Amino acid sequence: MNVAFLGLGVMGGPMAGHLASAGHRVSVYNRTRSRAEDWAREHAGSIAATPAEATRGAELVFACVGNDDDVRAITLAPGGAFEALEPQAIFVDHTTDSATLARELDAAARARGAGCLDAPVSGGQSGAEQGRLTVMVGGELAAFDRARPAMEAYARKLVHLGPTGSGQLAKMVNQICIAGTLQGLAEGLHFAKQAGLDAHAVVDAISQGAAQSWQMDNRAATMLEGRYDFGFAVEWMRKDLGLALDESRRNGAKLELAELVAEFYAEVDAQGGRRWDTSSLLARLSSPDGER
Ligand SMILES: NC(=O)c1ccc[n+]([C@@H]2O[C@H](COP(=O)([O-])OP(=O)(O)OC[C@H]3O[C@@H](n4cnc5c(N)ncnc54)[C@H](OP(=O)(O)O)[C@@H]3O)[C@@H](O)[C@H]2O)c1
Repeated sequence: MNVAFLGLGVMGGPMAGHLASAGHRVSVYNRTRSRAEDWAREHAGSIAATPAEATRGAELVFACVGNDDDVRAITLAPGGAFEALEPQAIFVDHTTDSATLARELDAAARARGAGCLDAPVSGGQSGAEQGRLTVMVGGELAAFDRARPAMEAYARKLVHLGPTGSGQLAKMVNQICIAGTLQGLAEGLHFAKQAGLDAHAVVDAISQGAAQSWQMDNRAATMLEGRYDFGFAVEWMRKDLGLALDESRRNGAKLELAELVAEFYAEVDAQGGRRWDTSSLLARLSSPDGER
């Protein structure tokens, strides 16, 4: 298929690469052109100067940028993808952003006779590189069925969850669950150290039982080493919890723990941890102010 990919960051770059490897004709756009040039050295594809140029003639247009404002900048702003979105084309937004924006984009796509899917992902950098992402999709089922074969190039699990916005709402559930799990893990490790236990041995013992989690398996060791210079940035988690808290004010959900953890992440950010991995909640507890 003729496809476009807008945003070649940590996630978008490898995803676009999988589309090229699967044999699609990929036109890429990245705000910082040198990143697109790096991508094109490794993968077959052409570089476009604007999102509109990348989108012209594409049957599927994928995007993975930062937040709501960034998505607006590459879609609805002058030179944006929606200027050139072909009737019958489908715009697939892999960015984690708001359900409100998903509805706005869907209406704008419909006005051009095109389709739109909100399709945030989970699985992190390694999931993107290995083509093993989970994709949570909202929008019309017919559009999902058409876009699905291409998305299989980088997905291990692709789930259609309902009408427009459902993908973003599901991703909020994912982030709410992770926030509580990570704070629990950080407190457990902090307690183990304060109690004078060998924290590595404790993790080894409890990781086969009911306390086991993806975070424990993949982050406990680096947390105990105080290493946070990788992974999923605090900056993005703050955005994601903000989206969930905004949505909860609309739907009445009580997000007591997520609200608290969002405040903790603001403190980690103030501590200099904006680009640290989200497991850095332990750094907050271990800092002189956090030591209780
Ligand atoms: N990293 C993860 O583990 C992970 C996991 C799941 C979901 N996500 C979500 O996936 C999205 C992308 O994350 P990422 O880690 O790939 O981010 P990233 O590495 O920071 O890349 C962001 C991309 O968006 C582009 N961009 C940002 N603002 C823009 C704007 N105003 N106009 C045009 N392009 C813009 C950047 O272009 P430049 O190159 O010019 O800066 C870059 O290509 C986020 O919504 C994030 O929450 C990330």
